[in-house]
Amino acid sequence: MDTLSVWRGTAQSTGFAMLDGEVAADVLIVGGGITGVTLAVLLAEQGREVVLLEAGEIGGGTTGHSTGNLYETVGNGMQEITSRWGAEVALHVVQERRTAIDFVQSRCQKLPDVGFRRCDLVQWAQATGDQGYIDKEIQALEAAGARVERSTSVPAPLPVALGDVLVLRNQAQFQPQAYVAAMARMAAEHGAKLHEHSRVLELDTKKGRAVTASGAVQAKEVVMATHTPKGIHLVHTEMPVHREYAIALEMDPGAAGPGAGIFWWHGSEGLSMRTTQAGDRHFLVVAGQEHKVGIHNAKAGLLALENAAHKHFGDRPVAYRWSAQNYRGADALPYIGRNASGCFVATGFSTDGLTWGTVAARLIAAELLGHKAAFADHVRPNRLSPVKGAKNIIEENVTVVKQLVKDYLTGRQDEKLSELKPGDSAIVDVEGETLAAYRAPGGELFAVSSVCPHMGCKVHWNSVETSWDCPCHGSRFRPDGTVIEGPALSPLKRKDTPPLAGGAT
Ligand SMILES: Cc1cc2nc3c(=O)[nH]c(=O)nc-3n(C[C@H](O)[C@H](O)[C@H](O)COP(=O)(O)OP(=O)(O)OC[C@H]3O[C@@H](n4cnc5c(N)ncnc54)[C@H](O)[C@@H]3O)c2cc1C
Ligand code: FES
Repeated sequence: MDTLSVWRGTAQSTGFAMLDGEVAADVLIVGGGITGVTLAVLLAEQGREVVLLEAGEIGGGTTGHSTGNLYETVGNGMQEITSRWGAEVALHVVQERRTAIDFVQSRCQKLPDVGFRRCDLVQWAQATGDQGYIDKEIQALEAAGARVERSTSVPAPLPVALGDVLVLRNQAQFQPQAYVAAMARMAAEHGAKLHEHSRVLELDTKKGRAVTASGAVQAKEVVMATHTPKGIHLVHTEMPVHREYAIALEMDPGAAGPGAGIFWWHGSEGLSMRTTQAGDRHFLVVAGQEHKVGIHNAKAGLLALENAAHKHFGDRPVAYRWSAQNYRGADALPYIGRNASGCFVATGFSTDGLTWGTVAARLIAAELLGHKAAFADHVRPNRLSPVKGAKNIIEENVTVVKQLVKDYLTGRQDEKLSELKPGDSAIVDVEGETLAAYRAPGGELFAVSSVCPHMGCKVHWNSVETSWDCPCHGSRFRPDGTVIEGPALSPLKRKDTPPLAGGAT
């Protein structure tokens, strides 16, 4: 299935050249999403020599597949932060996130139009049983110093409110792809060297050296702005990874819509909704159906989202469909700062990373420029009691993987490669080895090792995005084994065994 976000489908591409040869830098930033690009701007403005390497295109990771909302609260609720960390930390979180939104607004005033607008965040309950959450959330936000109010209705055609509605004033939204592309151009104007299609294949964080297929960078400092750090890091064991789906429904320009706003319908369907416009086309963006990576039927998730959207908003055409993943901090806060590997990481943003990514860039820039901010201590990557927590999570992951392997072997073990129809995938045993196989619509057969090169879990097929996804820490691979995202640096091993060359087992 083809997936493309409304943001990437309607924004101009950036066109930075691939890295060519050996270069040196003060700071190497790996990753051209909102975190990496914002950091590149901040450092380049202060005269630092910055090289940014992006595996694909600027914004092509999660940033260009988000919903483009900026808010001072967090998606899982301020009440969780208050209950885990106390009222003072909740106050700091709201303050930091508010400052980050103000920063984005001030940047947008210097950029071409990227659709930035101030708006309310509106949250209401899907069922009467969900109303208690809304009431608690209003209290938690008030205590954390947020500008929250109660209302009794939401704008049409959104699903009606059953009880009090939470309204958070003066939040914001923008076109995330347009913003990150414009910020990348701004970084380049200040002297940063940005390279697209320059995937880091080897990274020595202690020596500050990164190698791509066409060059290498030697840097004094390395920042992994890769959404989750590459290689093996303790934070991987602490972060559950989820995928979420989004669609953009084409709206009749004359039809009444909810207007500007971040609309969160809290409950089992858990929809996030907003409008956007590209030229004279109007869209309603609907996101939801979150599930753990690699243990769900992706097509069913997307279909459920489309059905929910059609049920509430009528039979409007779906112009764009996409999906992306998020990494959730084990204790509701992200991990930002220098970790044991010696380089900087910025991860665990959950679905709030446009603002957390901006916070992260500002914190890391401050530290690299010699004045560490107080908030940095709340989000330092090594703050958890490592071994005990990690053990529990590894055990949980192992359980998941065992379950998956069982499903594969009982369900599809005897499926023959030769019987795979175009568009079909299967996990099959070939000469004692378990392979992940896929036959492309054109007939070409891909067979790769089913063992994730990151830490050895088994991959699972994602039917929406035609990829092999790892349930443990979120690495994803194309049918030919190349890395799409996640902590794995190396591909799934391609298996060109003699039986496969012949197309049959
Ligand atoms: C469906 C969905 C909706 C969301 N909506 C919102 C929202 O409305 N508001 C909000 O605040 N947050 C939202 N989020 C979360 C937010 O989008 C992310 O947290 C944020 O974009 C992360 O930004 P980033 O720069 O850290 O990572 P990314 O944008 O993922 O950028 C990382 C980059 O690193 C690159 N990279 C990876 N490996 C390598 C390598 N080896 N070499 C070179 N480059 C590499 C990738 O290609 C990628 O471009 C949403 C998330 C999802 C899944
Ligand atoms: S992503 Fe860690 S084992 Fe696959």
